[in-house]
Amino acid sequence: MYQVSCEEEVHIEKYHQRLSSNKGSLIEHVLLCIKIHISGRSGVMLFDPGYHVSQPITVMEDGLELQTGIIYGSTTRPEVTRLYNYHYMARNSSFIVWDVEEKRNGITKSKSTSVIQHNKPFLSATDIAERRNLIYAFKTLLGRDAKGILKCGLYFPVRETSKVSLTLFHHANGVLHNKKVALSYFLSNYQKDDSIEEAIANIAAGTGRTGENLRSSLVTLAHLLEDPKFVMEVTNLDKEIELISKNEL
Ligand SMILES: *[C@@H]1O[C@H](CO)[C@@H](O)[C@H](O)[C@H]1NC(C)=O
Repeated sequence: MYQVSCEEEVHIEKYHQRLSSNKGSLIEHVLLCIKIHISGRSGVMLFDPGYHVSQPITVMEDGLELQTGIIYGSTTRPEVTRLYNYHYMARNSSFIVWDVEEKRNGITKSKSTSVIQHNKPFLSATDIAERRNLIYAFKTLLGRDAKGILKCGLYFPVRETSKVSLTLFHHANGVLHNKKVALSYFLSNYQKDDSIEEAIANIAAGTGRTGENLRSSLVTLAHLLEDPKFVMEVTNLDKEIELISKNEL
């Protein structure tokens, strides 16, 4: 079993050209991989736990039996579904293509493609994927069950505290609760709102933390993002990384 890199949301042709000419790429995601050979046929098993897919994903080079097929991913909204399909890249079997299709109320809203390089181990996942994600300007904290179904979480764009609205969601008694809260709510001596406190307690429980611990992280976050210079530096860096990886800088 070894680590493999994944570059998300790419244009396949441009991505392949860029790699062939040794230009930069983001490889912002890491998965685990096992190579398999069955009666002369090759394939891989991919493991991506904690991210979008909790089950092992089997991809055969010929696309035949053992192939996992379409996987229905969990989303934060009941009307939105995401379908994942994995197959070998037709022009270069060193890569697995991961097609993502998002549907809203059954109608296709967007399609994207990510690429996993399985022929070589990802030697510096911490240095590359981890560091890139530190700067990523959209943050999420998600709780999933053993099947990968999203149970609770929060997400927000990185901006100055006064401009950040945090989305909180959790399930209680089978009902999905969504709540938006201004990040400034967590600045000193905040007036407690019961529904927000309940959501935070639920999200903490679903992500293996205590309410106290999660609240303290949010207070730290609210203080951290009050610094306009810091926010500017992070968001500019994020934009520059995007441009470099698109080969436009
Ligand atoms: C497939 O991609 C790898 C890695 O970039 C490259 O070394 C190899 O030459 C490519 N093969 C083909 C057939 O284009």
